[in-house]
Amino acid sequence: MKEQLEGIRRRALAELSDHATAEAIEAVRVRVLGRSGELTEIMRGLRDLAPAERPLVGKLVNEIKSEVESRIAALQTNLRGRELERSLGEAKLDVTLPGMKIPRGRIHPVTQVIEEMLDILGEMGFEVEYTQDVEDDFHNFAALNFAPDHPARDTQDTFFLPGGLLLRTHTSNGQIRVLERRRPPLAVVCPGGCYRRDDPSVRASPAFNQIEGFMIDRHGRITMSHLKGVLTEFANSFYGETPVRFRSSFFPFTEPSAELDIHCLLCAGAGCPVCKHSGWTEVLGCGMIHPNVLRAVKLDPAEYQGFAFGMGVERTALMKLGIDDMRLFFENDLRFLAQFPSVNGGVR
Ligand code: DAH
Repeated sequence: MKEQLEGIRRRALAELSDHATAEAIEAVRVRVLGRSGELTEIMRGLRDLAPAERPLVGKLVNEIKSEVESRIAALQTNLRGRELERSLGEAKLDVTLPGMKIPRGRIHPVTQVIEEMLDILGEMGFEVEYTQDVEDDFHNFAALNFAPDHPARDTQDTFFLPGGLLLRTHTSNGQIRVLERRRPPLAVVCPGGCYRRDDPSVRASPAFNQIEGFMIDRHGRITMSHLKGVLTEFANSFYGETPVRFRSSFFPFTEPSAELDIHCLLCAGAGCPVCKHSGWTEVLGCGMIHPNVLRAVKLDPAEYQGFAFGMGVERTALMKLGIDDMRLFFENDLRFLAQFPSVNGGVR
């Protein structure tokens, strides 16, 4: 038995020479150590041996087993090293070749416009709060003083979801959401996506962005003059020193209400087809927050007062970037998007 084992050892080690191939190594492993390999078989037959012989044979088998195993492990490490050297030797590097141009992502032009608006508003002291796109009737309409039969609630305008929910039609829900959580004094802006059942066209999209803003403090502290001052300052920073005018308007959630017009950026007030020859373009809606809106968030209108405003982002972006079709923003055509390098090179 001892001779037989020594024979197995000799043969295995001879075959596991320094130059053994991966296949030869595997063949030895299977023949000697495998499930029906030579050593395994001998171990299995151990109980047929004389009791005195068993420990000696068992010990020898284990010794040969670990010797063969470590020899195999050493050869395999060696082989891997040689393989790496070979593949490195084959790969030739031509350092004179021109480098590969790695395409860089850019910030979407609409996002760039939002960020620029928020930067200006942030410098003026407004905090940014994000509120939800999926809303209920209360936060999108009722709390904002929309009458139950107001046409904006119509299915023509609003995307209704199962369970009494809807996609917000404007970011004015942000006023309600924030005021349910926080108490004045507050100066907050809420950017975000809005949805209306419009067909995509040159001037409209069923999904678009708005920035809502509001400033509230104790009664008498925030007046219409502050509204005009803040929004004129914003328009001058964002659009440049262009003439502005406040035109009276109507919104259910403000009283009085106004719209802010700026001199048309295309014709500088001279009149052109884009501004319908009026020389002016509307850029936002605003007003003093309606007492019913304050009541809806449990603020007493005798104690608190403030203004609110809301502006669409895409139309403004069209004007500012000199683009004539809103659909370009949503088609994700890289030939279009690549024309708006971000100020910081696309890195945030
Ligand atoms: N929510 C209005 C819209 O979608 C925009 C708006 C107008 C917001 C006047 C306001 C506001 O806060 O005071 O057209």
